[in-house]
Amino acid sequence: MADALILTSLLGEADRRVGLITLNRPKQYNALNDELMDQLGAALLAFDADDGVGCIVITGNEKAFAAGADIGVMATKTFVEAQRQQFVTRNWETIRRVRKPVIAAVAGFALGGGCELAMMCDFIIAAETAKFGQPEIKLGTIPGAGGTQRLPRAVGKSKAMDLVLTGRMMDAAEAERAGLVSRVVPADKLLAEAQAAGEVICALGAASVALAKDCVNRAFESGLADGVAYERQVFHSLFGTPDQIEGMAAFMAKRPPVFQRG
Ligand code: HXC
Repeated sequence: MADALILTSLLGEADRRVGLITLNRPKQYNALNDELMDQLGAALLAFDADDGVGCIVITGNEKAFAAGADIGVMATKTFVEAQRQQFVTRNWETIRRVRKPVIAAVAGFALGGGCELAMMCDFIIAAETAKFGQPEIKLGTIPGAGGTQRLPRAVGKSKAMDLVLTGRMMDAAEAERAGLVSRVVPADKLLAEAQAAGEVICALGAASVALAKDCVNRAFESGLADGVAYERQVFHSLFGTPDQIEGMAAFMAKRPPVFQRG
């Protein structure tokens, strides 16, 4: 049997589960290879298909979320091999097929493909120890899993250029100021904070959560007018759904709502 390069577990109460995925190549600082990415993709799709799971957290360990694609594997590849094999990126888009929210809980290094993986998640909660960067330029190459596209969208052109062109790292405080991460917490609170955020989401209406995620993602895929029109349609389409009826009735009755799962 192949080594478990990722570990999965369930956090929280029954029917409000947060699916936890832990990257598990600690000796290599969770450097990404095809086997790990295959296992990650399978775990994401399994949690997405599980009606008992409302939200997914991806994490690493206290030293590294992931220090990038495995340089040892990439070092001797030719252009033809890189182009044909799509090392690490052949399943990269799997995470975009996940309709449930995916939170990155980052401690330690999130570099290169590790930073790109964190940016593929819906939001990033960082430990105070987190360090983000796209150091590929120092290897004589460039980011290859979306870093040149997602980083400028997250932090703006100037800081993205600074990071991509110099290869320097930024710490959690700078990443929060720049808007790359949504919150920074003490390292020993990282998983608890990610779980708590996940449980808040799990208690909400599954359909409205999935559609809210879809609409925010539209902001990165379309122009403003198209995105707003799409949002308006989705907003209207939620009228008459059990969760909209329940959510607004509960507010009017001054009681907590009970939303549908799955
Ligand atoms: C393979 C890696 C690795 C990586 C760390 N290791 N990063 N192995 N690929 N990306 C291994 C080291 O070889 C070492 O193994 C162990 O993890 C610990 O690393 P050290 O360097 O000894 O630790 P430290 O001095 O604390 O430095 C940590 C570090 C440094 C700053 C993270 O390891 C580093 O700079 N790593 C490379 C980061 C990087 O360039 N990432 C981008 C890769 S390109 P041993 O066996 O010696 O103990 C990329 C492109 C993606 O990601 C595009 C999609 C294809």
